[in-house]
Amino acid sequence: MEKLIGPKKIKTAVFISGEGSNLNKLIKFSKIKKTPISINLIISSKAKAKGLIYANQSKIKKKIFDFKNRNIAEKNILKILKKNKIKFICLAGFMKILSKNFIKKFNGKIINIHPSLLPKYKGLNTHEKAIKNKDKFAGCTVHYVTSKLDSGKIILQDKIRVTKKDNSTSLAKKVLKKEHKLYPNSILKIFS
Ligand code: GRF
Repeated sequence: MEKLIGPKKIKTAVFISGEGSNLNKLIKFSKIKKTPISINLIISSKAKAKGLIYANQSKIKKKIFDFKNRNIAEKNILKILKKNKIKFICLAGFMKILSKNFIKKFNGKIINIHPSLLPKYKGLNTHEKAIKNKDKFAGCTVHYVTSKLDSGKIILQDKIRVTKKDNSTSLAKKVLKKEHKLYPNSILKIFS
């Protein structure tokens, strides 16, 4: 990834589908002095995504695309990304799988946060799997997005100890707290 030169921030889009707690942290991060990014666009795959509240609060432009037809959705997303001069994409709880073609167009410029210690537990239900397997540690990973699901180069990881009292809900809560720090730190790592 190219280094940040001068005061210009990297125009970033965040893609969400749900709660948007990571989006909220990224918006906060984009307002601090040392941040390399500005968030100029929020894309949601769901009209009712709770996270859209953060777009409203921060007055960041938001667009909703239902992915019933992925080709059409991606075509329109690419158009709006271009129009807004977006150079970097953060997936934050985005529940759709982007096509090879889309990823190629933003090669090396899309990152994702995943709630497991990759390469362990790609895909869904990561916390359930960690509990079921009696793992000692759980955690989260920020990685580059490639056409292979949850398999791109790892940028940063953080972990927590799983206690006997933990269930998938308590684990999700603890890991999410870690995610909120890991995502901004990963962006700092990429651009410094
Ligand atoms: C997070 O656990 C993230 O790792 C996963 O989906 C969840 C999204 O949470 N991909 P939020 O929407 O950012 O609150």
